[in-house]
Amino acid sequence: MKFNTPKFGPLNGVKVVFSAMEIAGPFSAQMLAEWGAEVIWIENSKYPDTIRVQQNYKELSRRNLYALSLNIFSDEGKEIFYKLIKEADIFIEASKGPAFAKKGITDEVLWSHNPKLVIAHLSGFGQVGDPNYTSLAAYNTIAQAFSGYLIQNGDTNQPMPAFPYTADYMCGLSVTSSVLAALYNAQKTGKGESIDVAMYEVMLRVGQYYMMDYLNGGEMCPRMIKGKDPLYAGCGLYSCKDGYIVFEIVGGEQVKKMFELIGISSLYGSDDVPVGTQLISRKMQVNDAFETALDKFFGEKNIDEALEILASLNVAGAKVLEVSELQSNPQYIARQSFTTWQNNKGKEFTGPNIMPKFKNNPCKIWRAMPEYGEDTADIMAHLGYTQDEISKLNEAKIIKTRG
Ligand code: COA
Repeated sequence: MKFNTPKFGPLNGVKVVFSAMEIAGPFSAQMLAEWGAEVIWIENSKYPDTIRVQQNYKELSRRNLYALSLNIFSDEGKEIFYKLIKEADIFIEASKGPAFAKKGITDEVLWSHNPKLVIAHLSGFGQVGDPNYTSLAAYNTIAQAFSGYLIQNGDTNQPMPAFPYTADYMCGLSVTSSVLAALYNAQKTGKGESIDVAMYEVMLRVGQYYMMDYLNGGEMCPRMIKGKDPLYAGCGLYSCKDGYIVFEIVGGEQVKKMFELIGISSLYGSDDVPVGTQLISRKMQVNDAFETALDKFFGEKNIDEALEILASLNVAGAKVLEVSELQSNPQYIARQSFTTWQNNKGKEFTGPNIMPKFKNNPCKIWRAMPEYGEDTADIMAHLGYTQDEISKLNEAKIIKTRG
């Protein structure tokens, strides 16, 4: 394989380099790769990304990438890295705080090689701040716990982190959006950017809704009860005869019609529920009667029947699907929300398709996950190193070529 990234997608021509492991940073880099960017995944030449122990997820999460194994922080490794950076538009790294700067790779050094470079630093606690925090390791649950997000989830019995790895994906999305904002500006001004993405701050924003009442009035919303919205009645998880549904009764017409449907219209139009009420707050006196009537009404219906009724009232609702139901769902089929591809050994994998769908610049999966060090030799040759130099660097473990 030589460097011949096919031309497709809205990011056709954009070059990205990333040094990050597991989910968060790589999720961002892989989105960029699926949208057409040429993306090089740097792994430590001493050992591979820990994601490689995950049998199936790795095949999804490392599609469309080139794999380079490099000891970035050795003197020779830095030289190779700077050559790579010279050509790149975006560099994403995820590590314990200012790890790159501590090892001499500051933003200023990177900009001396490429002034237009957009740099994203992803870490648990940020590049700057209290030194007791900035160099700490972080994963999904740490970001959720430190941000006030975790304590708001779970139910009244106990807090619970959101899984699977929600904070990692939110942080990956945050890196994606911020690097593209910075790239837009760098292309206009010729000046690069350095973005400091602290995982806990991403999750602080994700958990911000109820917090505003606490910060501006001292009142913190309690955790939910049995999957129901803690702030508004008629929103969340309900049981039907044959399984769970969710719905959200939001809007003046929807509230009025639902009161009629479940037989409590006498409670509508009172001081407690004035005409035009758009949401039923838990603080309204009607809360218990409303929830009891909803539980009874939907508890006597089948899911299909319930969904039909909700749709007729323009109330948003859905069946809580089992994962085993997704692939056969007509909407998933019609939109090709899942896809299949082959890994390097010809084994077929099924997983979520590229999202979102770009109408004028469609995206594609053009490459399976590369093996550890698979593209090291080609990338080195592309950077101008001879075969002899590549072999010597490999022997010195500055790089790791395949096999
Ligand atoms: N070449 C040479 N050294 C490298 C390297 C490379 N290509 N890539 C990493 N290293 C070094 C690191 O600098 C680090 O050196 P140190 O021990 O002197 O600090 C060492 O290898 C191990 O670092 P790392 O890969 O970060 O592993 P870790 O087990 O210490 O920490 C994380 C892993 C994920 C907890 C940490 O990187 C982190 O907090 N990252 C930011 C948040 C994040 O991405 N979390 C994961 C979300 S899924």
